[in-house]
Amino acid sequence: MVKISPSILAADFANLAKEITYIDKAGADYIHFDIMDGSFVPNITFGPDLVSSLRKYSKKTFDCHLMIDNPDNFIPSFAQAGADIITIHYEATPHIDRSLKLIKSFGKKAGISIVPSTPPEVLEYLLDDLDLILVMTVNPGFGGQKFIPSQLKKIETLKKMIDKSGKKIEIEVDGGVNDKTVKDVISAGADVLVAGSYVFSASFDQYGEKIKSLRG
Ligand code: DX5
Ligand code: ZN
Repeated sequence: MVKISPSILAADFANLAKEITYIDKAGADYIHFDIMDGSFVPNITFGPDLVSSLRKYSKKTFDCHLMIDNPDNFIPSFAQAGADIITIHYEATPHIDRSLKLIKSFGKKAGISIVPSTPPEVLEYLLDDLDLILVMTVNPGFGGQKFIPSQLKKIETLKKMIDKSGKKIEIEVDGGVNDKTVKDVISAGADVLVAGSYVFSASFDQYGEKIKSLRG
């Protein structure tokens, strides 16, 4: 069954500890943290201190999506903050292989994300150190954007590439995932779905229903 990783980008920032507790109880598999630096993307969110202070409210997998330039500078802090998966952007560093090895050196799961204009083939020589590939189905920077349908073909291509390699690498899909787009995303080959506005726009007692409705 597909895993769900609700993005707290769409949660109530004034009540994050409660939001984490609610989403944990609602059946989230992972909890998605969108880290933005105002340089790689035109928005700023939060850093490792916030991840660390929320760590005690849930034992679920903390899925940290770093939309930041020079990720190597921050990988150690996110590892120490309690991230379980650290995903960096292919477009954010010229030495992505080195960055992946740095993530692995902390015993964390390593992910690479690619933006909508990056072709899937760039990942072919990186599969050995990868636990997860995050396909952005919107341009990174903001929640609540419209799903870009051309990315479905990319998910299919990656699925074939991973199957052929025989490796255990999850495909995570992030951006514009909701009850309308979910079916195509799952049939294209997604293993993990990020959902921000679709889940958190409901009241907290509906989070469980929202998550369930994405499982197909
Ligand atoms: C965008 C972030 C996404 C985003 C998803 O830069 O990576 O995680 O918050 O939000 P929705 O589900 O609202 O598109
Ligand atoms: Zn994200």
